[in-house]
Amino acid sequence: MTLLTIHMSSSARWGLYLAVDLGGTNFRVCSVQLNGDTTFNLTFNKVAIPKELMVAKTARELFSFLADQIEEFLRAHHEEHFVETKKQMTGPSSARDPFRLGFTFSFPVNQVGINKGKLIRWTKGFDIPDAIGEDVCGLLQEAIDRLGLPVKVAALVNDTVGTLMARAYTSTEGSQPILGAIFGTGTNGAYLEKLSKIRKPLDGTYDKSTGEMVINTEWGSFDNQLNVLPTTRWDAALDESTVNRGVQKFEKRVSGMFLGEIVRLATLDMMKDESVSLFRDANSSFNDWKSTTNVSPQSGLLKPWGLDSSIMSVAAADNTPELSTLRQELESALDIFAPSLEDAQSFKAVANAVGRRAARLSAVAIAAIVLQSGKLDGPDKEVVDIGVDGSLVEHYPFFRDMIYEALKAIDGIGPEGAERIRIGIAKDGSGVGAALIALVAAKMESETDFEYKAKAETSWFE
Ligand code: GLC
Repeated sequence: MTLLTIHMSSSARWGLYLAVDLGGTNFRVCSVQLNGDTTFNLTFNKVAIPKELMVAKTARELFSFLADQIEEFLRAHHEEHFVETKKQMTGPSSARDPFRLGFTFSFPVNQVGINKGKLIRWTKGFDIPDAIGEDVCGLLQEAIDRLGLPVKVAALVNDTVGTLMARAYTSTEGSQPILGAIFGTGTNGAYLEKLSKIRKPLDGTYDKSTGEMVINTEWGSFDNQLNVLPTTRWDAALDESTVNRGVQKFEKRVSGMFLGEIVRLATLDMMKDESVSLFRDANSSFNDWKSTTNVSPQSGLLKPWGLDSSIMSVAAADNTPELSTLRQELESALDIFAPSLEDAQSFKAVANAVGRRAARLSAVAIAAIVLQSGKLDGPDKEVVDIGVDGSLVEHYPFFRDMIYEALKAIDGIGPEGAERIRIGIAKDGSGVGAALIALVAAKMESETDFEYKAKAETSWFE
C-alpha cells in the first residue's frame, strides 16, 4: 500500500503554494515551490504571536493579524507575482487564479471538507471564546478579503497531518510513514485508518473509494480522567493554572509548553523546604569561596510560567564535571546568581526526570499507533517509518534516544520491534504538508475554473 501518492501528468501544476501555520508560539507564513520529485523549495517568515492575541476578545483581532502577516510576506518575497495576481483578480473571472493557501491550524477541529472545519476547543494557551464552533478557514478568508489579497484558503490541515504528508512526499525509499507526530509546544499524532474500523459517525464530504482515512487522534487529550497517567502534585497545580483546565492532560505531561512549568513548580517546592539547601549556599565546597548563592526576586523561578523549557535542553546537554554551562544559564536565564555545583546537579536531576517522563509517555503514544497498524506482524521485517517534528524532538538532547529506550520495554514492541521503527524528522513538515494538500484541493475544484486541472490526475492513499 502506498500511503500518499500524488502523481500527475507532466502538465500537472506542481508549483508555488502558500502555507501558513498557526498553532504554537509563532505564526509562520511560507511559500513552497513543489517540484514534484520529492523536493521542494521553501521561503518563510515567522513572527511570535503577541500574547494578548492568544486570548483576544474576538477572533477577528487574531485573524486580522494573520492576514496582515500574509500581506507583508507576499510583498516582501513575491512582490511581482503578488501585483500581477492582484491585477488578474479584478479582470474577467476566467482569468482569475489566486494564490492557493494551505492553512495549518493545529487545534482540535471538526473537519467537514478540505477547506472547512469548525473549532472544537482551543489548546496551548489560546482562549478566544467567540471562535469556538466557527469555520476557521472562513475566518481567515474573511480577514484576507478585508485586505483585498488575491489569496484563496484552499485547504485546512492539522500539523500532524501535514507532517505525515511531508514525510510521505520526501521519502526517497518508497517506504511510507505510518504516523506523523508533533512533539513541540503541544503534542499529537495522525495516522491512516481503515474506514471499516472507524465507528464514529462521519459528517461532511470525503472520498470513500480508498477505504481509508487519515485520523487526527488529538492524543494530547488522552486520559483526561487520569486513569493511567502518572500524576504528581505539580501536574495538578499546573493544570489549575491553565486556561484549559481539566483537558489536554497527556499534552501537559509531554509537551514543551508545559515541561518548564512542571520543573519550576517542583524546584520551587524544594526551595521552600527548610531541610533542603537548594540555591542557598553560603559557601559550598565547590563554589567560589566568596560567592553566596542568591536568587533575585525578579527570577523567573518565582513567577508562574517564568521558566522556559529551553533551559532543560541546556541541563540535559551539559555533562561536564563542573556543569559550568548550566550554572551560567541558571544565572543568565533565571537570575540565580553563583549557583553551586550541587544546585546545578539538583536542577539537572529534576529537569531530566521531567524530560524523561515526557519521552517515555511519547513512546507510549507512538507504540499504540505502531501496534494498531499491525506493521510489526508482517513477515517481511520492513522498516516502520514515523515522521516527527517539533522543538522537543529537534532540540531536546537525547529525546529520541529516551523514546527508543522506552519502546524496547513495551509489550508487543520489544528490542526487535524498536529496531525496525525509524523515527525521522519531517523538517518543515507542516508547511510542506499544507502546500501539498492545497495542491490536491486545487485539483478538486471545478474544472472550468482552472484549465490545467483537466490534464492532471491526483490520487490519494492508493
Ligand atoms: C495540540 C493541538 C493539536 C496539535 C498539537 C501539536 O495538541 O490540539 O491539534 O496537533 O497541539 O501542535
